[in-house]
Amino acid sequence: HNRKPFVGGNFKMNGSKTMLKEIIDRLNALKCDDHVEVVIAPPTLFLDLAHRSVREGISIAAQNAFNCSKGAYTGEVSPEQLKDLGIDWVILGHSERREIFKESDEFVASKVAHALNVDMKVIACIGEKLEERESEKTEEVVIRQLKSISEKVNNWRNVVIAYEPVWAIGTGKVATPQQAQEVHLIIRNWLAKNVSQQVAQDTRIIYGGSVNDKNSSELAKQPDVDGFLVGGASLTEKFITIISCFV
Ligand code: G3H
Repeated sequence: HNRKPFVGGNFKMNGSKTMLKEIIDRLNALKCDDHVEVVIAPPTLFLDLAHRSVREGISIAAQNAFNCSKGAYTGEVSPEQLKDLGIDWVILGHSERREIFKESDEFVASKVAHALNVDMKVIACIGEKLEERESEKTEEVVIRQLKSISEKVNNWRNVVIAYEPVWAIGTGKVATPQQAQEVHLIIRNWLAKNVSQQVAQDTRIIYGGSVNDKNSSELAKQPDVDGFLVGGASLTEKFITIISCFV
């Protein structure tokens, strides 16, 4: 396959202008573009500043976007507005959006549809909760979420799938390389069967959930792990070590 590794940094609701500058200075100094695609997702407030501060080769993602272009939706941001700022990527379906903000599969899918329709690229997140894994529903849940998203995808080139087991997010309890590989392969096989061989071969499937500078290199060796979506560690120098797994 010729999938280019992809590492995203999801800052969530963290950071300040000063912190953003430190993170971006480190990334701007890193030579990695031939080997890995790097995308950072600062809070909405800092998207424009981040976009203007990163060197060519590093992209910016929003952490969320609404499912239509404009209107009376207090507090929301549209993909069209993000595009207007020069933002190319958006994270959709993150488990924190699904859980805390009660986003359903259908709502996530409608946001994916709208973002792709206006030519944004999407990091689409899926993943099971602890009780779902413990009751052996991992495959069922992940495929349900994937199917709902995939029905809206017209061009898979603009999609990266992030597998993020909810029990691993922010907990320090990372999936083992085997656990990650197993689910990534399930996802890829589903794409092969339900979309196409080509899409299965070309689509990046990245892992997220307590990725750090210590566990990233073993995870990165798994054949179906094409990169990471990093939360906490993306705010620190560890992010550089994680990206460097692919260089
Ligand atoms: O989007 C990133 C994930 O939620 C992972 O977060 O690396 O802090 O566990 P974390």
